[in-house]
Amino acid sequence: MSLTSHGEAGLERGRVDTQRYEHAVMGTFGTPLRVLARGEGSWVWDADGNRYLDLLGGIAVNALGHAHPAWVAAIAAQASTLAQASNFFATEPQIRLAERLLELAQAPAGSRVFFANSGTEANEAAFKMSRKVGGTVIALEGGFHGRSMGALSMTHKEALRAPFAPLLERVVFVPLNDVDALEAAVADAGEDLGGVILEPIQGETGVRPVTHAYLEAARALTLRHGALLILDEVQTGVARTGAWFAHQLHGIQPDVMTLAKGLGGGFPIGAVVAFGERAGALLGKGDHGSTFGGNALACAAALATLDVIEADGLLDNVKAVGEHLRSALADVPGVVEVRGEGLMLGIGLAAPASAAVAAAAVDAGFIINPPSPDTIRLVPALTLSTAEADLFIEWMAGPGSRIITEGTA
Ligand SMILES: Cc1ncc(COP(=O)(O)O)c(C=O)c1O
Repeated sequence: MSLTSHGEAGLERGRVDTQRYEHAVMGTFGTPLRVLARGEGSWVWDADGNRYLDLLGGIAVNALGHAHPAWVAAIAAQASTLAQASNFFATEPQIRLAERLLELAQAPAGSRVFFANSGTEANEAAFKMSRKVGGTVIALEGGFHGRSMGALSMTHKEALRAPFAPLLERVVFVPLNDVDALEAAVADAGEDLGGVILEPIQGETGVRPVTHAYLEAARALTLRHGALLILDEVQTGVARTGAWFAHQLHGIQPDVMTLAKGLGGGFPIGAVVAFGERAGALLGKGDHGSTFGGNALACAAALATLDVIEADGLLDNVKAVGEHLRSALADVPGVVEVRGEGLMLGIGLAAPASAAVAAAAVDAGFIINPPSPDTIRLVPALTLSTAEADLFIEWMAGPGSRIITEGTA
């Protein structure tokens, strides 16, 4: 199987559709790279019929790839039975999904789940939980938790924050992996500390892992001060790292974990898992809500996603294909390191060439992402095969490598 460059001739229809997009859709995302028409497994096709190997997976969302038959069937069956019931009522998929998440998270008695519709919303709920404990939240430099005002207040990047000031008060940022700085910030907050929020591996900032020692310190400090350890597993959760949840790789348990992205396998859903009696009871009747949260259709999509991950042994596939990519890409000239876990990989480049590499890659039929100038991120479907991974490795060893080392393919 080989890919050929799509070239100029094959992008006519897409150019027209891109103009239509720009005239009708708000410009928050800039010009789209392509207009995509359909997908199957790890492959997508654009409006002109060109095929791409999707190594971005809707940004760590399409856990089962595109149009997985079991996922499609589960959504169709639920849609034709009962989609939305309002939270005055419960549905079986909602109850079952909550039970399943608590089981996969090995959550103790008293633990509870709140359902939202996105990662941002899950983090908003977690933020409200921390306010029930204390007024100060400690977050990490480089952390990303979403763009609504609460989630943005815990997101570090100044360019995202500045236009929307004033943001919420009493969010303190500390440098990544600096235990002393965390200890000092916890001491400063004193009795007012509500929680510490962090991603086990920072995704949007370029796949930067939090060290085991730092996670252990964050766990110990929050326990000692009666504050919440909130792990944002929106990107790292649901098998992405080769464990059901990334914190399980570290043998620690948070008080609160937020999920979204891969949970619905492409259907929008977010969730907050509150561990234990205390966290499980922080938000009581009337404290929070969502019209769509826990919608039966979304929960059926999530249950199907979890079922396939388990039945098809995808945790093992993630570890095997992730390791294969990691070791092969580390040998590519111009690549200085490969960070991350499982199928959440950041390829560190010797030069600030990630945008150029990503642009050339899409022309060559590979969808990848440059979260920072010297990092390429891969967050493909958990079903990606070694043979599919090899297509990208081959391209990176040739044109990709030349763009990094020589400035041109
Ligand atoms: C770690 C993390 N938290 C929160 C979010 C926001 O999630 P959503 O875009 O579903 O609102 C993202 C999205 O990239 C994320 O990576």
